[in-house]
Amino acid sequence: DALADGFELLEKRELVPNMHLLRIRAPQIAAHAKPGQFVILMAGETSERTPFTLADWNADQGDITLIIEEVGRSSRELISLPVGARLAHVSGPLGQPFDIQKKGTVVLGGGCYGIGGILPLARALKQAGNRVISVIEASSSYLLFWEEELRAVSDETRIATKDGSRGTRGGVQEVFEQLYRHEGPVDMFIAMGCTFMMRMTTELTRSWKVPTFVALNPIMVDGTGMCGACRVSIHEETKFACIDGPFFDAHGVDWDELDCRRSAYAREEVEALPQAAD
Ligand code: FES
Repeated sequence: DALADGFELLEKRELVPNMHLLRIRAPQIAAHAKPGQFVILMAGETSERTPFTLADWNADQGDITLIIEEVGRSSRELISLPVGARLAHVSGPLGQPFDIQKKGTVVLGGGCYGIGGILPLARALKQAGNRVISVIEASSSYLLFWEEELRAVSDETRIATKDGSRGTRGGVQEVFEQLYRHEGPVDMFIAMGCTFMMRMTTELTRSWKVPTFVALNPIMVDGTGMCGACRVSIHEETKFACIDGPFFDAHGVDWDELDCRRSAYAREEVEALPQAAD
């Protein structure tokens, strides 16, 4: 059956430099996916297993959509597949769905692949009756994407750019601060993107004592809780991001440990890249 499904690459588009949208046939995953979940892909039989957040899916069409940043060997391998090619493997949906409840005003922050990742959350939170504000960041305006998609499922959408070319100058954290200080109560913050942004927003919302959730992105290998690669500490308890996460209470995360484990693996990933011929 999996062979018949074939995990065919249906669509591939570079949304902005280095950010690619991949739409893949995966009917079983599309039928069961819930907001906040992810998949693990293998481009070829011997490729690395790499986790990607589900940015969207369509159960009727039987496809899933991922936003992939071109960084490192495995993402480059995926992005270089031609439309019509079949991926060796896609496992999922993995992880715990985000617990969608009516909270009031929920502010979502997305950077990088997290701009795609917050879309299903924004949609579901809005459907559950929340006032949803989506905030997206990029270094510059030409690197922003999915603004219209987010606008369609949010009550408001805000932009931040590091160079100030659009919206607030800075990142998600600057907009969070503006919303919290000047625009009334916020009942929950959610952040998804690079570890730096998630950590910065966590420090802010900790001081405001507003519940905050982050999607942790440690390296994953098996995605089944067996290998231990995705180990994180939450309120001093060991958790596995692949089966207990990806979302955790941001105020309980041991960020130093996460940074340090990620950079140790990042070095190995870079070293695994084929050397450029001189
Ligand atoms: Fe192996 Fe989570 S990826 S335990």
